[in-house]
Amino acid sequence: MTGNSKPILQIEDLAVAYGHIEAVKGISLTLNEGEITALVGANGAGKSTSLLAISGLVKAQRGRVLYRGEKNEGDDLVQMSPHRIVEAGVVQVAEGRATLTTLTVEENLALGAYTRKDKDGVARDLDWVYSLFPVLKNRAAGLAGNLSGGEQQMLAIGRALMARPKVLLLDEPSMGLAPLIIQEIFRIVQEINKTGMTVLLVEQNVRQALRIAQRGYVLETGKIVLEDTGANLLGNPKVVEAYLGG
Ligand SMILES: Nc1ncnc2c1ncn2[C@@H]1O[C@H](COP(=O)(O)OP(=O)(O)OP(=O)(O)O)[C@@H](O)[C@H]1O
Ligand SMILES: [Mg+2]
Repeated sequence: MTGNSKPILQIEDLAVAYGHIEAVKGISLTLNEGEITALVGANGAGKSTSLLAISGLVKAQRGRVLYRGEKNEGDDLVQMSPHRIVEAGVVQVAEGRATLTTLTVEENLALGAYTRKDKDGVARDLDWVYSLFPVLKNRAAGLAGNLSGGEQQMLAIGRALMARPKVLLLDEPSMGLAPLIIQEIFRIVQEINKTGMTVLLVEQNVRQALRIAQRGYVLETGKIVLEDTGANLLGNPKVVEAYLGG
């Protein structure tokens, strides 16, 4: 979906510190509606911290996260509670999957819809999630803890989709998975995006992330050092040298 450059999320000068550690040092990035935006960088660059600040799960030291959803003409997520941010349509899939292992697959998915009152819509979205991830349908009554790593990642994404987000924040969905499963996850991220959902994709799998992203940002020690289209970043000598083993 190129050509559509209407911003849905504008992050301005966002900074986060853990005590004396300045993890995110005033970053600015824009997510265009309906696009995949990649945020890439090495271990400890501040990727997860950035997502957690957008979701309200860690407190920003300064900066704004302006969100233009359907009803909100520029709410600042920094001023909102995590619960309200989810309700407004900005939903994060945490790093490391984090499914509730002692609940069934279907119970996990139902939890994702906890803010919603539209029962019919929830039922439709459950069907949609099962069509995206047929393996979850087969395992619906089984415990989430018995799923493989890849299946748990699918469940974590499926649970986030059950909140019907406008903006989906994905924190390293391919981490620790086998190559074939990684391909499957990236394919499904594209499929989700094709429904019009905006995606912010944090990845260490830089090549694959930039291949599917319209735009990308490179984060180094808490600062954005490069931003461009995904295709341009893939061909950028600095990116090739630092992240693509060139
Ligand atoms: N809860 C915390 N308390 C203190 N320091 C933290 C905490 N979480 C992260 N940090 C530090 O903040 C910096 C950024 O960490 P963050 O987890 O955001 O990086 P990341 O880019 O997501 O890394 P990774 O690729 O390893 O997930 C690092 O120096 C990290 O050690
Ligand atoms: Mg991280």
